[in-house]
Amino acid sequence: MAFTSLLYVSVSTLTPEQEREEVDKIVGVAQRRNAELSVTGALIFTGTHFAQLLEGPVDGVDALMRSISRDPRHNSVTVVDTGEATRRLFPDWSMAYFGHSRYIDRFVGPLFASSEDRPRTSIDRLIGLMQEFTLSN
Ligand SMILES: Cc1cc2nc3c(=O)[nH]c(=O)nc-3n(C[C@H](O)[C@H](O)[C@H](O)COP(=O)(O)O)c2cc1C
Repeated sequence: MAFTSLLYVSVSTLTPEQEREEVDKIVGVAQRRNAELSVTGALIFTGTHFAQLLEGPVDGVDALMRSISRDPRHNSVTVVDTGEATRRLFPDWSMAYFGHSRYIDRFVGPLFASSEDRPRTSIDRLIGLMQEFTLSN
């Protein structure tokens, strides 16, 4: 079965009062449902943006993206990188979560640019940071 990886960024619609409870709910559902679909990955919440990498069977990633893209807790869902993958970057994480990584926001903002202006270095940096965080946790 084809195996794919997808990275998107989005704009949070959560108020500071909602953040904690809603992000807890997202991560709880994600860990359960992603495990069922053999999808792994990582989610970053910067306070204003989300960035999420999903990897696994195409059908599973597609099903998740259908749910995720109509979720009112964020908008402007922008896929910045997708393609076939040969190995998982997060094999041990149904969904690794890193909250309030404000420092990371500087790499997320530029990714909303149109595809030809999207800096590859920001994409690589973001994925690299996700990996560093999982290694140190
Ligand atoms: C930023 C963000 C990331 C999410 N990531 C996941 C995820 O990785 N897996 C998942 O099952 N749901 C995730 N969700 C929740 C889904 O949007 C959805 O609520 C949930 O999968 C239930 O699907 P349904 O609404 O189609 O029943 C995420 C939501 C948001 C706002």
